[in-house]
Amino acid sequence: MAGEHGRSVANNEIGVRKEGYVSRRIGAAVLALLGLLLAALPAQTQTKSAEGDKHAWWQDAVFYEVYPRSFADSNNNGIGDLNGITSKLDYLQQLGVNAIWITPCFPSPQVDFGYDVSDYESIDPMYGTLADFDKLVTEAKKHGIRVILDFVVNHTSDQHKWFINSKSSKTAEKRDWYIWRDGKAPGQPPNNWLSTFGTTAWALDPKTNQYYYHYFYPQQPDLNWRNPAVEKAMLDVTRFWYKRGVAGFRLDAVDTLYEDPNLTDDPVLAGTDKFGRPNLDEKFNKKLPEVHDAMKKLRSVADEYGAVLIGETWTANVGELRDYYGTKNDELQMPMDLLMTGFKGLHADEYRKHIAAVNAAGHWPTYVITNHDIVRSYTRYGDGTHNDDIAKMMAALYLTLRGSAIMYYGEELGMENNDPTRKEDVQDPIGRLGWPLEIGRDGERTPMQWSNGANGGFSKAKPWLPVPPSAKTHNVENEMQDPNSMLSFYRQLLALRHNEPALLDGDYIAIGNDPNLFMYVRKYNDDAILVALNMSGTAQSAKMDLSSAGFAAPRLSVLLTNTKPSGTGGELGLGPYGVLIAKVSK
Ligand code: NOJ
Repeated sequence: MAGEHGRSVANNEIGVRKEGYVSRRIGAAVLALLGLLLAALPAQTQTKSAEGDKHAWWQDAVFYEVYPRSFADSNNNGIGDLNGITSKLDYLQQLGVNAIWITPCFPSPQVDFGYDVSDYESIDPMYGTLADFDKLVTEAKKHGIRVILDFVVNHTSDQHKWFINSKSSKTAEKRDWYIWRDGKAPGQPPNNWLSTFGTTAWALDPKTNQYYYHYFYPQQPDLNWRNPAVEKAMLDVTRFWYKRGVAGFRLDAVDTLYEDPNLTDDPVLAGTDKFGRPNLDEKFNKKLPEVHDAMKKLRSVADEYGAVLIGETWTANVGELRDYYGTKNDELQMPMDLLMTGFKGLHADEYRKHIAAVNAAGHWPTYVITNHDIVRSYTRYGDGTHNDDIAKMMAALYLTLRGSAIMYYGEELGMENNDPTRKEDVQDPIGRLGWPLEIGRDGERTPMQWSNGANGGFSKAKPWLPVPPSAKTHNVENEMQDPNSMLSFYRQLLALRHNEPALLDGDYIAIGNDPNLFMYVRKYNDDAILVALNMSGTAQSAKMDLSSAGFAAPRLSVLLTNTKPSGTGGELGLGPYGVLIAKVSK
């Protein structure tokens, strides 16, 4: 299944012959030539991590997002479950994963597939029991894997007992746990705010004739975080799970925690959105400064348990991302850099600038290229010809940068989106509401591809979402046996990441400014690794000047590649979307 250049090579050294690599060191003449070219290419050095050598566990960790409905189905009912996850811990350990983030597995009516929680302190029977969860944590620990849960902080399900009490009367004990308001006039919501899921953000409850606010589906009423009782209850939820051995939380939709209490209308912008509604500048119901106070409180409880907080931080820029760490490093340890997922096309310059900016922000970055809400990276970056090599190239990029990394299940196989083609097949409500402009998120949530058997080996029953035809080639069973597969590439990549001091602790030193070849050195004391990535669909070569990394006459030993790298006349050459990860020595 591997692409045309899908060769993964370990422990070879780049030679100087025109074609390919040979298992000898670069000759002295070439070293001299490389030395002569020192001035030709500028290089930028980024600051060393403030943390120095003493990393917290999560800084060196590779996280892996598990969408439990789709990972492994132990009871063969077409939907994944916790025992399914437990049964795959060997696989995850061998892959090189250190922590799994499980998207919500709590009791839920499943309107938003778990992001509508009706009880924060239990497990949905569909996924198993609390005992199954405890077993998963215990077994995961034996595999060196920590468990991170997904905390839906902004809203509950409308079936949560808190909301049921809240809507029961205007004087109910928990009335103020949610955001209730009178309409502006009969039949008119309190203001112009919109739900991101395609409707107005206000639902009228006929019993009390008031509206409640919901930024997501109407079945997901927003909690009122201005009420100290809500805050306390939510902090207590985190304690409940920390005591059960959970290593941290991924915090859902943190931007949306607070709203302007005066309900000021959002400014209306030009144009309409994919649901046909006016575009709004959501300045009065998103990213309010109070969010940072809540993050600090969640952090201080996390610190009591040595836990990590990962943020779903859809920021507009690196400055906003930096703010989520907290001015005193007292908010999120791992706000996700989701900015890269929005880049259009593959342009070395754009990545070079972005990574420089993220490093310059002075904190430990967290990189992500795909998740359950966005089109899979394999599909998003793929050009239809070099998809496997592009996927390897993107993996080599974000998994060798200075920072933590969060993978998405199946990414390591080259799983692609399997989007519905008919509205009647759509499961995700936003896809039904917004069809055909918004087709929903089913495509990126299809079952994990374990084998080339029926249903990708995920379940003996018809899975809740269909597996794509590419499961026949891109699956664990096949790829395990193929040394050039995506999976083999990921396994080698993660092994390097865990074993090479330069990849764990090294400075990030950008090399050159070639528009197609993105190159950098990770350097830690005398250890150095060069990462060279061809971000284009044609063979490229560029002069290599590693002097800024302290190497006037470097020798390169290939650690991992998907191409035939060449070192000729002081130039490094890589095939289309070629990757070279090489040890640099003097
Ligand atoms: C972000 C989650 O990732 C997404 O899947 C969910 O629909 C919304 N938050 C609402 O909880």
